[in-house]
Amino acid sequence: MLALLTKGEAHALVRLERDGLIGARTEPGEGPDRKVSRITRRGIARPQAEGIRHLSVPAPGQRDRPGHVCAAAESHRTRASAPGLYPQNVTNLALHLPSPLVPIRDDRMVSRGLRLYLKRDDLIHSELPGNKWRKLKHNIVAARERNATTMLTFGGAYSNHIRATAAAGHYFGFATIGVIRGEEHLPLNDSLAYAESRGMKLVYMDRATYRAKHSPAVVANLRERFGDFYLVPEGGSNVLATVGCRELVAEIDVDFDLICCPCGTGGTLAGVSMGLAGKQRAMGFSALKGGAFLTDEVSALQRRSLGAVLENWTIECGFHFGGFARGAPELDEFIKSFGNEHGVALERIYVAKMMFGIVALAERGAFAPDTTIIALITG
Ligand SMILES: Cc1ncc(COP(=O)(O)O)c(C=O)c1O
Repeated sequence: MLALLTKGEAHALVRLERDGLIGARTEPGEGPDRKVSRITRRGIARPQAEGIRHLSVPAPGQRDRPGHVCAAAESHRTRASAPGLYPQNVTNLALHLPSPLVPIRDDRMVSRGLRLYLKRDDLIHSELPGNKWRKLKHNIVAARERNATTMLTFGGAYSNHIRATAAAGHYFGFATIGVIRGEEHLPLNDSLAYAESRGMKLVYMDRATYRAKHSPAVVANLRERFGDFYLVPEGGSNVLATVGCRELVAEIDVDFDLICCPCGTGGTLAGVSMGLAGKQRAMGFSALKGGAFLTDEVSALQRRSLGAVLENWTIECGFHFGGFARGAPELDEFIKSFGNEHGVALERIYVAKMMFGIVALAERGAFAPDTTIIALITG
């Protein structure tokens, strides 16, 4: 596996494996980071016990302290005035891990003999929710391993990943640069205003250049402008992201047949499918029109991670509702009724489309009776 990674990724993975984080089951009080975790219980209505896990990241110079394997730090943003310094004052960030697994009794599923659970990754952290945390987690560790002081990433003006990277920079003590597709529009929308409030430097890239954003020439130009940085690709989807997404599967303590997730860049699906065993399958739901390209993206990520493409996943491309961030009255109605019935407010751009797709496929008889389905709530 390691032979296919860049030197930096391989180095981080060796360390993560040594620390037992990769593939580890993260039960409350168990696991390699038990020395630094404190578990508290919350009275949120759910069927199974769950913990709030407080994780710590080693500050530079402390990196070999045993038990400090994963990052969570409240930064007092000394960096804003002194770039290159790590925060001196560190307090723990509460992460809701393992995320809750919630059974949903929906007549449209029950009448077809289907069991449905929501894996509530959206509850992991308000600013680093769902797949954002899963994808950034090992990148944060790797950035620290490289002594990087700045993270740079790419995204559209409404990108959840841009927001989350800004939050990660704030909490973990990195300067962050967000390269935003297209022109600047003032006043900033809520997403970009939030990112800026978390200390992210926003820069804008014309759409033609943005299409080549990951090319060596464009990245070299960014390094000339901004100095050295740890690069997180658009959507956060790289090999280390797949490692983080793979881990969530091990948290699921019911037998299941199928796990569904929304798709934007494919990193979540690539990682989730890597965590499956036996006959378990993964199904991605494209939030974008023309999502067929995602098959290549997921395949490429798995090739880089594993040296092979797994055959346990598929992508549904028929529930994009006209394209990214588009919707329809039917989708709005679905979100409303799902919220009323199950008390869960579905995120509109990705999660609602997946959930609509799951129910629609169930009604079409696409799932065999007695199938247990996990819907991954990614944000
Ligand atoms: C809530 C939510 N779900 C799903 C996705 C898509 O995940 P991926 O890009 O890994 O396919 C995103 C994008 O970041 C997202 O914000």
